[in-house]
Amino acid sequence: MTRHTGPADAPWIVFTEACIAREHPRTDAPVVRRLGSGDQVVGPCHVEHATDEEWILADIDGERAYVPRWNLHRIHPDNQVVGNLPYGHEIVDRWWGLPIEYEPDDLVVVPKEFCDSDPKEYRLRSRAIDALLDMLRAARAEGLDIRVGSAYRSGPYQVGLYTRAVDRDGPRQRYSAPPGHSEHQLGTCVDLLDSEEKFVLVDEFKNTPHSAWLEQHAARWGFRRSYYPENVAETGYISEPWHWRYHGRR
Ligand code: DAL
Ligand code: ZN
Repeated sequence: MTRHTGPADAPWIVFTEACIAREHPRTDAPVVRRLGSGDQVVGPCHVEHATDEEWILADIDGERAYVPRWNLHRIHPDNQVVGNLPYGHEIVDRWWGLPIEYEPDDLVVVPKEFCDSDPKEYRLRSRAIDALLDMLRAARAEGLDIRVGSAYRSGPYQVGLYTRAVDRDGPRQRYSAPPGHSEHQLGTCVDLLDSEEKFVLVDEFKNTPHSAWLEQHAARWGFRRSYYPENVAETGYISEPWHWRYHGRR
């Protein structure tokens, strides 16, 4: 995985209703400015070691201020497109994201026989679903029933997931991406699990034959695992043996 870069003056945008810029990177520090949804700040990301929280060190009308990164998202200029992003070249990571309203227009429903027991529908972009179904059929031919437990997620849906994660585990949590920054919004990523649903979004999934098969064969269908123990520092997320992203067939 590459850590993407972009212009130093690209703004961070407030996506929460309220956002408090403070004198120091602490949630009890004096207030510099109260910001609201859509407000923008520019600056580097500071990680406060005592708390593991990320703060944007911004200049607000000549005043130095720390702005909670968990209230902000940032759009990479290459993602400001009309229409669908090209497969395999999408720039989405913890630091660079998509417009929250970005939604590919070629999303197709994943057939139920390849999904978990949840009644909700999962959708993926057309080329990603073709590759995925070919891959899952090949796994079945070898006796492994691998299921989809999450696929495309809209920006507004990710707002809800991320907000709940931060409410539950605090801003230092590293398992849920801020809205606009989730690879799931691309419509090319899936969370995979075993058909018995014994290992759902847990690290132990890595010990299953399903995971071993994916690690060995998924690249043939253009899928790569995004989050490994080895790239935790780079990605800013925990290791996720279940999360696979389509980058295009070889
Ligand atoms: N769990 C991954 C990082 C996401 O929220 O997209
Ligand atoms: Zn995922």
